[in-house]
Amino acid sequence: MAEDAKLKIDGADYEFPLITGTEKEIAIDIGSLRGVTKGVTTLDPGFKNTASCESAITFLDGEEGILRYRGYAIEDLADKASFLEVVYLLIFGELPTVDELDKFHSDIKDESHVDEDVKKILGGFPKSAHPMGVLSSLTSALTAFNPTAVNVDSEEDMYNAIIKLLGKFPVLVAWTMRTKMSQPLDYGSNNLGYVENLHKMMFSRPNKDYNVDPQVIEALDKLLILHADHEQNCSTSTVRMVGSSQAGLFASISAGISALWGPLHGGANQAVIDMLEAIKTDGGDTKKYMAKAKDKEDPFRLMGFGHRVYKNFDPRAKIIKKAADDVLELMGVEDEVLDIAKGLEKEALEDSYFVDRKLYPNVDFYSGIIYRALGIPVEMFTVMFAMGRVPGWIAQWREMRQRKEPIGRPRQVYIGETHREFKEIKER
Ligand code: SDX
Repeated sequence: MAEDAKLKIDGADYEFPLITGTEKEIAIDIGSLRGVTKGVTTLDPGFKNTASCESAITFLDGEEGILRYRGYAIEDLADKASFLEVVYLLIFGELPTVDELDKFHSDIKDESHVDEDVKKILGGFPKSAHPMGVLSSLTSALTAFNPTAVNVDSEEDMYNAIIKLLGKFPVLVAWTMRTKMSQPLDYGSNNLGYVENLHKMMFSRPNKDYNVDPQVIEALDKLLILHADHEQNCSTSTVRMVGSSQAGLFASISAGISALWGPLHGGANQAVIDMLEAIKTDGGDTKKYMAKAKDKEDPFRLMGFGHRVYKNFDPRAKIIKKAADDVLELMGVEDEVLDIAKGLEKEALEDSYFVDRKLYPNVDFYSGIIYRALGIPVEMFTVMFAMGRVPGWIAQWREMRQRKEPIGRPRQVYIGETHREFKEIKER
């Protein structure tokens, strides 16, 4: 392979080093570009061709449909690991031993209380407030109640901030849902597993014993694993950007939640169900919606389809699609929209518009069907995505801080007015 990348601008020749990652990905290191060319930069809206960082956390191969967390295949982790093991793996880089996992969980339990005054903030939202907006606000508010978690220069301070977030975030998720549903808040129980405790705080009822089928917890655990990290997606890049100014962990994660909220990103799982319900109401006419998705004049997109990186099946979608059948059978639920979804998938994968653009179902296409079967309200679907993604955001924020990455500050190409003289208002 060539040693350097060569560039010719206005007759001048420049060379830039090539960087090769452990999976043989190649990048041109343009760190000196603006300096040696006296001002030339690169333009790449959406960063489709730009690596923002070097990272050792998650590897994607979009052409082959490969996803690995710290080198472990997503299929193995979803099948054999617990969500808490994956949380530990993403953040600290290794699968934990029994003792390491026990201590990790014990430390998290010690931080699983939320200041009672958080309820005053929660109670201030109208019932119509979208849970993602509530969750982002409550997560940012954690800074006010845990001020020591802001300046995290030492490993110990960083660990403590991480443990606080992992302990309190499930409470915020559950309290956000129960407040919206006008249900009393549940404080959880330290005798339960991490995901089971989340489920209890979400679904317990004060007037009846809490019992849950272990297979329900297993399905939720698997869904959270599948959402745990995905390299430099929109919300993770947001967390790294905000964290690069040395804003605290909670503020950085709060920004990530806002980015994930968008319908082109994590909000797609809610948009998919809304779309499938609209098709069902419309008599199941999938061909009409396929035509809308292909019509350039129509802003409608087939939600849950397409991906910036995957130009093959999203491996998570494959796993979730299978799990959807299992969970619906387990819950004894007949959901007509699952059949509509499978019909849409079949039609799209036989349609040249989708095939030519390599548009396949992504993680959001089937996940909402499982969330609904588990009794989770549709407006909470993206909150569940955020619950799964928190360990990935933490791991990426920690890596950025440990590598002492510079503050994010892109350049631009100015296309506005050149200099002009000021005019007094009576002259305009
Ligand atoms: C997530 O980045 C991540 O890793 C994200 C994520 C994660 O885990 O963090 O995987 C989670 O966000 C999954 C994606 C969820 N979003 C959706 O399902 C929304 C629907 N999908 C699209 O809006 C779109 O596919 C994106 C946003 C996901 C990707 O958009 P890109 O990479 O910017 O691609 P594009 O918009 O340039 O589309 C390329 C072509 C265009 O047609 P042409 O102009 O070439 O003719 O494909 C078309 C698009 O119009 N297209 C679609 C489509 N997605 C792309 N046409 C119809 N329906 C779609 N869903």
